[in-house]
Amino acid sequence: MDIVIQNELPSAAEREAVDAVLGPPGTSWEGSLQASERDRRVARGGHAARARRHLLLPTLHALQARVGWISRGALNYVCRRLTIPPAEAYGVASFYALFSLDPQPPVVAHVCTDVACICRGSQQLVAELERTVGPEGAHPGNGQAVWHESPCLGMCEHAPAAMLTVAGEDPREASVGNVTAQDIAGMLAGGAPPPAPAPLVPQQGDPSLRLLKRVGVVDPDSIDSYRAHDGWQALRAAVEMGPDWVLREVSASRLMGRGGAAFPTGRKWEAVARNAKRPHYLICNADESEPGTFKDRVILENDPFFIVEAMAIAGIATGCERGYLYLRGEYPLCWDRLVNAITVARSRGFLGQDILGQGIAFDIELRKGAGAYICGEETALFNSIEGYRGEPRNKPPFPVDEGLFDKPTVINNVETLVNVPGILMEGGLRYAEIGTEGSTGTRLFCLSGRVERPGIYEAPFGITLREVLELAGGVKDGRPLRTIMLGGAAGRFVTPDELDVEMSFEATRRAGVSMGSGVVMVVDDTVDLPAILMRLAAFFRDESCGQCVPCRVGTVRQEEALARLVDGRPRGSVEQEYALLGEITQSMRDASICGLGQTAADAIESALRKLDVFETGGRR
Ligand SMILES: Cc1cc2nc3c(=O)[nH]c(=O)nc-3n(C[C@H](O)[C@H](O)[C@H](O)COP(=O)(O)O)c2cc1C
Ligand code: SF4
Ligand code: FES
Repeated sequence: MDIVIQNELPSAAEREAVDAVLGPPGTSWEGSLQASERDRRVARGGHAARARRHLLLPTLHALQARVGWISRGALNYVCRRLTIPPAEAYGVASFYALFSLDPQPPVVAHVCTDVACICRGSQQLVAELERTVGPEGAHPGNGQAVWHESPCLGMCEHAPAAMLTVAGEDPREASVGNVTAQDIAGMLAGGAPPPAPAPLVPQQGDPSLRLLKRVGVVDPDSIDSYRAHDGWQALRAAVEMGPDWVLREVSASRLMGRGGAAFPTGRKWEAVARNAKRPHYLICNADESEPGTFKDRVILENDPFFIVEAMAIAGIATGCERGYLYLRGEYPLCWDRLVNAITVARSRGFLGQDILGQGIAFDIELRKGAGAYICGEETALFNSIEGYRGEPRNKPPFPVDEGLFDKPTVINNVETLVNVPGILMEGGLRYAEIGTEGSTGTRLFCLSGRVERPGIYEAPFGITLREVLELAGGVKDGRPLRTIMLGGAAGRFVTPDELDVEMSFEATRRAGVSMGSGVVMVVDDTVDLPAILMRLAAFFRDESCGQCVPCRVGTVRQEEALARLVDGRPRGSVEQEYALLGEITQSMRDASICGLGQTAADAIESALRKLDVFETGGRR
């Protein structure tokens, strides 16, 4: 698309979609079709325009949902409304995979071809789709529908998975699990998607569950059901006892962040609470785009009031009056349930200006990502909310000093936050007795791939990987285990003789592996391992934000070298390709700005080192 777009006009539907988010334009300066008295006096700009920039992403979402793509005229209108230079708005819109800047049919099926789905037949599914419906990107039938391959949709326990989006006056979105080529063909022909699959919590009913205890038990749309299952007790205690008490208990619990970096939550909360700069912001990071990860989705879909209560406690403790919940764009059911939970909680006095009648203010705003893994990185997430490209910032300054809108910000993962109500109810010191010395509490594990009982599992830190695998019934059909991808795409592969590694931050660090986001993706002897590695390489190449050279170029070179190995045509020998990959790995680790580039080679490097993938010089 040419970025000189001044002459293009929006359609009536596009205007409507933008105005539904921004309100009607006041003057011709903002694109109003009606001349107004204020035209001669008012031109929005400077500070006022910058203050509305954060509405860019929601406005682009509204256009995508209404029309199915973002035209030049529509983008032009957005630029006038928000006083954003067209090149910048184009840069933002083109950053996100879920936005299309080219004409696209209203019905789109996003078919997951990522690692857990490969283990569960997505390659065969795609081949059948190509045969029966047509190639990716083709418009079958009446041209009203299209299918695209997609990275992990966070539905790995129900693999193979897909997501349907239908644009229009009444836009619809749905996640589909255990999908077949016939299901997809039916949806592309205008049929309704199959119903959402029930949560897979094989431990349901186990009294030791702490984070999953209400999943599949409560009615996720009912605040009364939540209250009847211990809901709101911790928030009441926090309001009664005050912020210092909450901070003391959280610090005493030694709760470590579950988003990947394992940072002590109490330290983060204390730093923001004591920061004199105002306002403070809270962010719940629900971007969850790490391939193989679905734990946050299971909680948000099935126990949405839990995160509302946890965020309210965090906000009160750290002096935040506003919290943002940033949800990945591929979680439509979570979105609906969270909209309901936040609205109902506000109407019952658990959020708003006067929480529980005690004059305390805290409220939550939902924000939706648009298909960019990097937006889970905390500073990229700030940029995304603020209406900029989701590119990570340099650190320092750290978020506790300068985060969202350059203000002190607490950002935590969903799983981290939902530990807090339990900590307050039983006391931080008691909580710290669960797990290990350096890793207190329980951990959620996302079991997928060739495992007998895929789903989400909860166990105290200290359990071994072997025990986690046994909880899930072992390898599917009793086949031999080839490897486990532990921690996600940014994690590492482990071999069958490493299964006794203890699942704690300290033990995994010692063993040179990582629990990451709790991914345990099981690979047996039936899985096309080179295809998995190629998919990982493609994922990092696609998801690199491109802002620093080692990552932008390194992820491409890594994929090229791997492709040569998979094709059985190494440049020189296999050993020479391995040496080249080693150099690329080292450069990315040493010189990338953020964790994406620093870990983009970890899984592939560990597979090549431990699994003899290319011992025959090519694909098996
Ligand atoms: C590339 C990348 C992606 C990330 N994605 C997520 C994510 O989806 N969810 C998350 O909670 N943290 C993610 N993180 C970690 C966040 O930057 C941050 O450390 C985390 O949200 C802090 O919360 P915690 O202290 O509760 O773990 C990601 C980090 C990187 C480098
Ligand atoms: S390491 Fe990669 S994702 Fe991170 S800032 Fe650099 S280019 Fe972007
Ligand atoms: S949903 Fe397909 S890999 Fe996660």
